[in-house]
Amino acid sequence: MNVLLLGSGGREFTFAWKFKQSPLLTKLFIAPGNGGTDQFGLNLALNPEDFLEVKSAIIEHKIDLVVVGPEGPLVAGIKDQILADENLKSVLVLGPDKLAATLEGSKDFAKEFMVKYGIPTAAYKTFTAETLEQGYQFLDSLTAPYVLKADGLAAGKGVLILQDLIEAKKELNSMLTESKFGQASQTVVIEEFLEGVELSIFTLTDGENYVVLPEAKDYKRIHDGDKGLNTGGMGAVSPVPFAQGEFLEKVNEKIIKPTMAGIHAEGYDYSGFVFFGLINKGGEPYVIEYNVRMGDPETEVVLPRIDEDLLKLCADAAAGKLESRPLNLLSQTALTVMLVSGGYPESYEKGKEISGLETIKDGLLIHAGTKHENKQTLTSGGRVISCTAFGNSLEAAQKKAYQMASLISFQKKFYRKDIGNDLL
Ligand code: AMP
Ligand code: GLY
Repeated sequence: MNVLLLGSGGREFTFAWKFKQSPLLTKLFIAPGNGGTDQFGLNLALNPEDFLEVKSAIIEHKIDLVVVGPEGPLVAGIKDQILADENLKSVLVLGPDKLAATLEGSKDFAKEFMVKYGIPTAAYKTFTAETLEQGYQFLDSLTAPYVLKADGLAAGKGVLILQDLIEAKKELNSMLTESKFGQASQTVVIEEFLEGVELSIFTLTDGENYVVLPEAKDYKRIHDGDKGLNTGGMGAVSPVPFAQGEFLEKVNEKIIKPTMAGIHAEGYDYSGFVFFGLINKGGEPYVIEYNVRMGDPETEVVLPRIDEDLLKLCADAAAGKLESRPLNLLSQTALTVMLVSGGYPESYEKGKEISGLETIKDGLLIHAGTKHENKQTLTSGGRVISCTAFGNSLEAAQKKAYQMASLISFQKKFYRKDIGNDLL
């Protein structure tokens, strides 16, 4: 089959790498892709959020299956548009429709869903500019730290965690009345702070049946020891040692099962991935957020551990004929270290030459923000390359990933030195 994969990051590189191994694949197109995805297929320079551009590519390249990597096109309704188009009747789309994607596109919508289906999550209330005063009163009733979340998509920046009540009120005002996060913060969810260790869990579903993917832990802050600004993610590990036994059983019974049953009961047109952002608070799992796509950089350690034909699983899910069953997994630990451009997640320079790529013989070198120009590979984003290594222990995988990280060079390269340390 001919496959169109939308997106351009390390996540999409990893999907492309895995799809390339499938006997079902005829031709792979990645749009827009990056400086590494072109080894698995043809990069198409188009905007994945522009339906007409996507439609032309589907027709020109006789695409059978569209796999949507990032949330943007899903929340914008790419699936609804493809399904509604007379000329695209035979095309399968892996991803939820616009309504189902609201589970990621609106925090308030997701919270209502969790409450309706009895899924453990932080206590919360939702406010708008009209109810600002009630928002202040709700903050008065809580204790620090205060968690304020822009309701809509804000590229991972819309969550503020504040120690000081006065500052929290100021920020609430700024979000609601000064459009601090634009449209996204016209509505704000204020919630109880949950203290604990984070964990990412994933399922792949056809709307009713589902398979559970390997779990992962992401490292979101820019500096070692979880200090500094939030980023898209600086590294990841899978499996996660504490995600087993009784805790995993609770995740399954209290979170995965009721969420998947809820998605089915709501009648959502949901094929694709459900990403559960969890917190383990004293041995009890709580949902922090849902995403309607795979995580990045979690994908860089999760997909390599799936010892199955991922394209077959994706096509089955998109066609509504996925079989609910345990997946075959590799028992090895996968650990990835993200190399980023100095300055990220604030301003940084692009267009720096990357060297040392050909020296990597072991492990998986995952392009994220790279591009090709005049036979050179250049940096083109904040997160540049993810070094994924495998080992029979976390220590072994960590050692190899850091060896890889040291062999790649570009000006102002930066990376965390402690990925996995907290799990050792
Ligand atoms: P979100 O975009 O909802 O995943 O939030 C971003 C990050 O903020 C999460 O990964 C957590 O580290 C943190 N966070 C969000 N909600 C809470 C909460 N209720 N308690 C503690 N930390 C939270
Ligand atoms: N790694 C977190 C995310 O993809 O949202």
